[in-house]
Amino acid sequence: MLKTLQFDKHKFDFSKYFEDFFECDLVRLHNKYDFGEKFIDVTGGTKSIDLIETAYNAVIKTDSFSLMWTKFLSTVIKPLFKQNIYYQKLPSLRIFPADHSVKYVDKVCDGMNVHLDSESPFYHPTFETNFWLPLMVCDHLNDFYYIDGNNWKQRANIDKQDMLMFDSFIIHGNYMHNKSFNTRVSLDFKIVPEDQYDKSVLTDIPIIKRGKKFKQNEFFTTDYYYNFL
Ligand SMILES: [Fe+2]
Repeated sequence: MLKTLQFDKHKFDFSKYFEDFFECDLVRLHNKYDFGEKFIDVTGGTKSIDLIETAYNAVIKTDSFSLMWTKFLSTVIKPLFKQNIYYQKLPSLRIFPADHSVKYVDKVCDGMNVHLDSESPFYHPTFETNFWLPLMVCDHLNDFYYIDGNNWKQRANIDKQDMLMFDSFIIHGNYMHNKSFNTRVSLDFKIVPEDQYDKSVLTDIPIIKRGKKFKQNEFFTTDYYYNFL
């Protein structure tokens, strides 16, 4: 399952939070900030991009963003599932600067970070539903791609602040080297419908998050990783 969803972009203007913070069009972030190395390996959460950490703390972790986030979850996301949900406490922010390579999977395939979030090195539970939300307009060089039947490289090609909702069996990724003139900025998050959460499928396989080691069955718990709504 993969579908495109729309929501009220004026009411939930995620992009504006970041545009206001950076004081810059998001696709031009690479002109304003120095991302350091041209090749950035963040595989398995061992390392992260400083600007992402800065924006995460200065924007996503604020009370006003959190308030909008919980309103968004209760009025836009929860009704999709028609039941109670567990949700990732706060969304993840991704920045892929123009003319930089960002590797985040063990094995790059055909120049792309092709992956399932349930595989190494992420080990997300398969009972999660994924959401991806671009904060700018993507082009064919920096977009989200996925396998649709036999068609690898089906481009998401969705509007700024539309949303892709897809299950954990959809293989997806993007070009490791962003050859576009535009930086890509997006949010993503996981939802688990209450009746899908199954602790018994989690194991003690090691995962790394933000440079710290955890066990899968200690990380993806309803106490630690998710909130209930
Ligand atoms: Fe992913």
